[in-house]
Amino acid sequence: MQHTHPTLTFDSAIEYAEDFIQKNLLIHSAYYAVVAEQLHDAQSEQQVQSLQSIRQRTGNNYINAQTTLLKAQAEALSVRQHSFAPYSNFHVGSAIIDTTHTIWKGVNVECSSYGLTICAERSALVSMISAGHRAFTCVIVTADTPTLTPPCGACRQLLYDFSPDALVILLNTEGKRSLYSMSALLPASFHPGFLLSS
Ligand code: THU
Repeated sequence: MQHTHPTLTFDSAIEYAEDFIQKNLLIHSAYYAVVAEQLHDAQSEQQVQSLQSIRQRTGNNYINAQTTLLKAQAEALSVRQHSFAPYSNFHVGSAIIDTTHTIWKGVNVECSSYGLTICAERSALVSMISAGHRAFTCVIVTADTPTLTPPCGACRQLLYDFSPDALVILLNTEGKRSLYSMSALLPASFHPGFLLSS
C-alpha cells in the first residue's frame, strides 16, 4: 500500500494560505505563504503569481511572519540548552508563535518518576496559554537527530485542540528542516467539537 507523505509542498502550503484568507485569518495565511516561498520547488509563472497575490492580501503580516519565523527557529534551537533530560539525554527545544506574532518557548523536563516527563512542545504551549493566548500559527520542534524529531502523540493532540491548522516545523541542529500542517499529523482526530457546542 502506498502511504502519502504529509510534508508540505509549495502547492499545498499555498492552498492552506488561500484557505486561511477565505476564513479571514490573515496571520495564519502569512506563515504558510512565507514557507511556501522558502520551498524551492521549480515554480511556474502561475505559482509565483499566486504567492505574490497572497503577499499583497496578507499585508504587514507577511513581513512580520518572515522576521518572526527566523527568530523563532533560532530561539527554538537555543532554548534546547535548558532542556532537563538527564535520563534520556534526548534534548528537545520548542517555540510556538501565537496569533500576535509572539514567541513562546519550552523544553522537555524529565522526572525521576519517568512518566511525569513533560515534552518541549507542551511546555511551550502551557507557557503561551498561561500568558492568556489561545491560538497559535506555528510550532517548531528542535532536536539533535538526523531524522527530524516530530511531536509525540500526546503533544499532537494537545496542540491540535488549540490550533488544528497550525504550521509544524521540525528542525535539527544541522539546519535540516521539514514542514507539516498540524491536521496532517493527526488525521481522523478527536477534537473539542465533540465536547463543546458553540
Ligand atoms: N520529547 C519531547 O520533548 N518532544 C518530542 O517531540 C519527543 C520527545 C522528549 C520527552 C523525553 O524527555 C525525551 O524527549 C525522550 O522521549
